[in-house]
Amino acid sequence: MANAAAIRNQIDEVLSSYKLSNEQLEYVRDQMTQNLFNGLHGKKSSLKMLPSFVRGIPNGKECGDFLALDLGGTNFRVLRVKLPEKSDDRVEVDSQVYMVPETTMRSTGEELFDHIAECIEDFLTRHNLADASLPLGFTFSFPCVQNGLDNSFLLRWTKGFNATGVVGKDLAGLLHEALERRKLQSHLTYSVKVKAVINDTVGTMMTCAYTDHDCTIGMIVGTGSNACYMESEADIKTLKKEQRLAGNGRMCINTEWGGFGENGSLESIRTDCDRAVDKESINPGCMIFEKMISGMYMGEVVRYLLLNLVRQAGLFGGVATDILKTKGKFLTAFVTQIEADRSHQLKACSQILDCLGYANTTLEERSVVREACVNVSTRAANLCASGVAALVLRSRDIETKLPALGSGDASRFRITVGVDGTVYKKHPRFRFLLSDKVSELCPNCDVTFRQSSDGSGKGAALVTAVACRLGENIEA
Ligand code: GLC
Repeated sequence: MANAAAIRNQIDEVLSSYKLSNEQLEYVRDQMTQNLFNGLHGKKSSLKMLPSFVRGIPNGKECGDFLALDLGGTNFRVLRVKLPEKSDDRVEVDSQVYMVPETTMRSTGEELFDHIAECIEDFLTRHNLADASLPLGFTFSFPCVQNGLDNSFLLRWTKGFNATGVVGKDLAGLLHEALERRKLQSHLTYSVKVKAVINDTVGTMMTCAYTDHDCTIGMIVGTGSNACYMESEADIKTLKKEQRLAGNGRMCINTEWGGFGENGSLESIRTDCDRAVDKESINPGCMIFEKMISGMYMGEVVRYLLLNLVRQAGLFGGVATDILKTKGKFLTAFVTQIEADRSHQLKACSQILDCLGYANTTLEERSVVREACVNVSTRAANLCASGVAALVLRSRDIETKLPALGSGDASRFRITVGVDGTVYKKHPRFRFLLSDKVSELCPNCDVTFRQSSDGSGKGAALVTAVACRLGENIEA
């Protein structure tokens, strides 16, 4: 072991590009802010800053019976949500998870929407609703240009989806057509009308805001990553005149921060592994920030990092197994399992490495693998914190201009971020790293993170409920 120190140096060197200083994170935060303003003004920006037409957080008086769809995360779900008369009472949710086979995700839009319609029909039949008439809220977790709540056009697919003939189309229209096709076959008499199409971040924010009126930011760190927040309507310069309401209102903006960095602003911190993950993805050059953070890519970043450690620091005797060299073989769930394992011998890591073709690893090797996971997940949490910090500081500025939404305590700005997504919920340290770093990046702000329970499902129902009550423009 004469060269142990030299090996350690090489390991440190490979890992060093994942350790971001506060200065670098402040740079990311400020770039995010810059892109945020550019997007609001319709200038070139890697943040799409999409108006959602959700104009207020819920007032707790929303009630009724709704269908909701949730497409775009790990699972596709159909839900029936009963909002009680009083917001203190329990929201009742029945839901069913359906598979969307990868071939369907990447086939034609007609096939995808026929599959969705089939699942809806199955759900209605199972729940004795085959002749019911229900408003539907559609959580569609992809970037959409909206002209109104139920008028939503897909800008581009992200994550693993790539069905043809959907980009640029009205999603409610596609779903209604598919349901009509389906009903011709089944002769059932249900009537399902899409009332709102929302992003999952918006659903998450709305669900948390139902009980916590300080919640004006929604964030997802799951398969993908994204955030929304309540912006001052007067500052959304991309809204057309006829889309504006008089007064000093707010509107929720879907930032689509996953695309941050597409204009090169993250080049100084991207690593060769990030570039490799991007190159091998189905959408190279797109969703740069998301690819450094979210669950769809985190395992892949670690896999490339391990390959670097094999090559440059002689990990596993310098041998890369065929499995380790294969795309997708290091799951993001492995990162969580390895970091959650507190056993001295790092047993979880040993089992995972065994599956990757490394039998009988040494404790030292396993520690290095663990370190690689820690570095990648910590960087993800830190980058997320930079994004949150940008939105918190923007929200604080808005609060000084507009009447308070939440507590209105001027001495110290208070805000809640509603969060959902597998990485946030399952990774053992992510939430703590995130909240600690946010405190450092936005001093003098009290930022609370609240895990939303089923934001996509309940949120869609909430937005739909308010839409039904008030017509299209949602106001508190
Ligand atoms: C992707 C989508 C975005 C969604 C996020 C989380 O980034 O583009 O719309 O909110 O994933 O699901």
